Amino acid sequence: MIGVLVNLEGIDGCGKSTQSKLLLEKLEGEGEKVIILKEPTKRPHGQKLWDMLHGKRKATNEEILELFVLDRKQHVEEKIQPALDSGAVVLMDRYYYSSMAYQVAGGIDVEEIREKHEFAPKPDVVLIFDLPVSVALERVKGHSDADEFEKEEHLEKVREAYLNLENDPLVRIVDATGTPEEIFRNVWKLVSEVRND
Ligand code: TYD
Repeated sequence: MIGVLVNLEGIDGCGKSTQSKLLLEKLEGEGEKVIILKEPTKRPHGQKLWDMLHGKRKATNEEILELFVLDRKQHVEEKIQPALDSGAVVLMDRYYYSSMAYQVAGGIDVEEIREKHEFAPKPDVVLIFDLPVSVALERVKGHSDADEFEKEEHLEKVREAYLNLENDPLVRIVDATGTPEEIFRNVWKLVSEVRND
């Protein structure tokens, strides 16, 4: 049996976590075995990353990328590959496509990042939830401690890096400005296409 890997992506506040939950419910309703996995993980590499991303630990962009790769290698071995081997639908709330947006926004070449992830099982589909940065920031208001202007500038770069992946054959750009139900209608259509392959 071989599972299906769906990767949900987008800038902070894009609604991917809500969509993962809706997908989980719908797929379970159809009798599928489903698991949601999130990156960075709660393992030691992931914990270190949280500290770096929240400014508690200084690091270069290259160091951050290396840690994401290490965290992901462990995640693939311990959770992702076993779940796929068991025939489950694996919903990845962030995966290596996050590195191909966030670490690219940090100045690293996208092809270098792709090459570093040759060990990782390829998603069957990558849903990138796209919306204007101002709308996303409005949604996460109160959750962020970063300087708002700095955060906005950074997320603009991340959004651009995501949109630059448009021609990747696995990527589908999903308009994330509607209600959760409206967005889910598209999500379900796109996921159904890969389940029926
Ligand atoms: P996120 O899922 O947004 O966490 P939260 O639960 O706080 O909403 O992810 C945390 C941050 O990690 C997010 O700003 C994006 C960043 N990140 C990267 O920079 N590269 C990566 O490869 C991944 C997986 C996440």
